[in-house]
Amino acid sequence: MTALLSKLQTTPSGVQSATDYLPYGQLRLTPEVWRYLEQGSGKGLTMQANAQALDDVKLMSRPLAEVKGGNTRLNIFGQQFEHPLLLAPIAYQRLFHPDGEQASAMAANAQSGQMVVSSLASQTLEEIIKASGQALWFQLYWQGNRPRTLHLLKRALAAGYSAVMFTVDAPVKQAVMQLPDGISAVNLEASLPMSAVPFNSSMVFDGWMTQAPTWDDLAWLRNQLNEPLLVKGILHLDDAKKILSLGCDGLVVSNHGGRVLDGVPGSLEMLPKIVKLVSGKANVLFDSGIRSGQDAFKALALGADAVMVGRPYVWGLSTCGALGVAHVLRLMRDELEMTMALSGAENLKAIKVGKFLNNLTKDKR
Ligand code: FNR
Repeated sequence: MTALLSKLQTTPSGVQSATDYLPYGQLRLTPEVWRYLEQGSGKGLTMQANAQALDDVKLMSRPLAEVKGGNTRLNIFGQQFEHPLLLAPIAYQRLFHPDGEQASAMAANAQSGQMVVSSLASQTLEEIIKASGQALWFQLYWQGNRPRTLHLLKRALAAGYSAVMFTVDAPVKQAVMQLPDGISAVNLEASLPMSAVPFNSSMVFDGWMTQAPTWDDLAWLRNQLNEPLLVKGILHLDDAKKILSLGCDGLVVSNHGGRVLDGVPGSLEMLPKIVKLVSGKANVLFDSGIRSGQDAFKALALGADAVMVGRPYVWGLSTCGALGVAHVLRLMRDELEMTMALSGAENLKAIKVGKFLNNLTKDKR
């Protein structure tokens, strides 16, 4: 077995894009942790579809446009960020670097952006927000029942988290790993004991799904919160409709990076229709497959208000901690700015309303 390389104290020279971090990250993680990070579920069909859907969208160059003084600024929920590249919630970040979630949160703030902290964080919600120096967003997983969920939510809000992203697409998961000693979901109480599943009954229906949330629980959750509430993991138009009718502030078109139901379409394929329904009434965020500023541009041009980056920032984190995460964000923002300049879009609004995709692609909207 080859020894793991130690973490770097500076960013590696020669890295020019987020994906350049991939091999640096891989050489610094055990094969088990690397598999946990990278794997999709099943045959990996959805993971491939995510990349393919983004590659299939063609851009269109529009020279000679006046873009001097342009910017990538995002205003959302009364907060302003310098770019629309949010750090997606990723569990157990101390698997990737000893500084864990604190490193990512510091990097998000240093790059004037935002991080969504997972319910499965490996450091306390309070220490992460303290390290970041700004009000972060909290990703909520259902905790088996309402009182336990409310308890966790109240703790996050008391710690200063300013928006809640409720993830609903992963009540059962294939991408799990045996955590090493010393790394755990430190913010959660012990799991709710499951009543014994009788012989010949289903572990899924009579076990795990008895603790999964339903639409009634989402309606209940909406009523518990004055803060902005986003629902993460939506692909179907009817689900988007219901989310709007329940008064949520937004949703994330996402298939969890291809880690849950294998065989669903690439996340981007589902974006335009949902945007058509939701835009102007609530915020639409997008994730799953974003690897570059060009990818981010495509999602924004198809109507997303902001995008979330998943695995790429963890490659940076695994290589050199906060510096790596900040570098990944900066590289992707530079690419986004260059794509905007070459497409003739001076800000996020212009990307949304402009004709910056190949017409053939736009006709499919
Ligand atoms: C995730 N994701 C995730 N989502 C969530 O809501 N809560 C979580 O705790 C996690 N944990 C997690 C761990 C790991 C290792 C990965 C790779 C992903 C999903 C994540 O927020 C996001 O939806 C995807 O990562 C986006 O896809 P890409 O950018 O990784 O392709």
